[in-house]
Amino acid sequence: MVQARIGFAISALSGGALALLVGVAAAVAQEPAPEAIVDAMEKVSGTHAGKRRSGAKGVCANGEFVSTGAGTRLTTASPLQPGARVPVTARFSNGGGNPRAPDNAPAVRGLSLAFELPGNDSLEMVMINVPAFTASTLDSFMKLLASRAPDPTTGQPDAQRMAAADRENAEWAVQPNWLRANSPPPSYAAAPFFSVNSFVFQNAAGEKRHVRWTFEPVAGRAVLTPEERAARGADFLQDELRARVAQAPAEWRMMVVLPREGDPLLSATAIWPADREQVEVGVLRITGVAPAGEPGACDPVMYNPLLLPAGIEPSEDPMLPIRAPVYAVSLSRRLQ
Ligand code: HEM
Repeated sequence: MVQARIGFAISALSGGALALLVGVAAAVAQEPAPEAIVDAMEKVSGTHAGKRRSGAKGVCANGEFVSTGAGTRLTTASPLQPGARVPVTARFSNGGGNPRAPDNAPAVRGLSLAFELPGNDSLEMVMINVPAFTASTLDSFMKLLASRAPDPTTGQPDAQRMAAADRENAEWAVQPNWLRANSPPPSYAAAPFFSVNSFVFQNAAGEKRHVRWTFEPVAGRAVLTPEERAARGADFLQDELRARVAQAPAEWRMMVVLPREGDPLLSATAIWPADREQVEVGVLRITGVAPAGEPGACDPVMYNPLLLPAGIEPSEDPMLPIRAPVYAVSLSRRLQ
């Protein structure tokens, strides 16, 4: 996994070495180049110094992952073996490039995790609270961004152009439709988080299977009513998490979801039916949240969804490989 290792190296680097590695990442990545993708994202959201080009509003946290051991039949990945207990650093975020994205809008929330594994083993996860991404191919994603870019004459998005593009690209409706029915949550700890992309698990017998995973909130899923949305205002999620975790850990069960024959394995806009078999492989316990106004340990690093341990491989989902190089470009720009 060339790109995964590049992403990992970047987490620990800055300056010239970082720029060099981003160049290498671009060279091994597919078209369009990761720089062009980040340029297109910046056209939609603007640039905000020091901020991520997506998930711009967020808060750092930490805790641990405790394995149930049930994952051992599916994968040799060390954090999912019996008895494994792994420190994690985490970042909760709001989707998009706006660092003031309102918490009371039905938009994407994110959870990124870095498992601190011994030796050379690594596992990072970058998840959202929707079981679907906005687009299933890079071509579709670039068209989506282009349709949302402000008109140069008005400085505003062109509603007619957007509506026409939406009609031609039915898959773009999957994520917003799900969000309208299932969000916004009153707490990050009341949101599920989904891998979205499929990954391939391999067990000790060498058996491979495509899976996805969901982090299911132990507190239960909850959605704000319209009245509650108005009352909460635009900035409550981070303080709510701090107050909650000061009382007791915030917890999620990690469920590995197994597809049935015929389920789409390689499309990030295809949601699998809710009745698919799920294996509870561990619990995530968030025990600390960075204090308000202080940059946390997660600020100057990137989370890389391709940083995987032995026993987990990326699937052939066409959206997956580009994520690491794009995140690296975003990292290099926000560290400048
Ligand atoms: C081609 C597809 C995608 C592109 C181009 C893209 C782009 C980006 C970029 C540029 C960042 C900022 C990275 C940084 O500065 O550290 C980011 C962050 C993020 N992305 Fe994506 N993304 C893609 C797919 C996805 C998918 C499928 C998911 C959901 C599973 C996702 C979830 C997130 C989250 C949660 C963050 C915030 C990460 C953090 O907390 O550090 N992205 N994305």
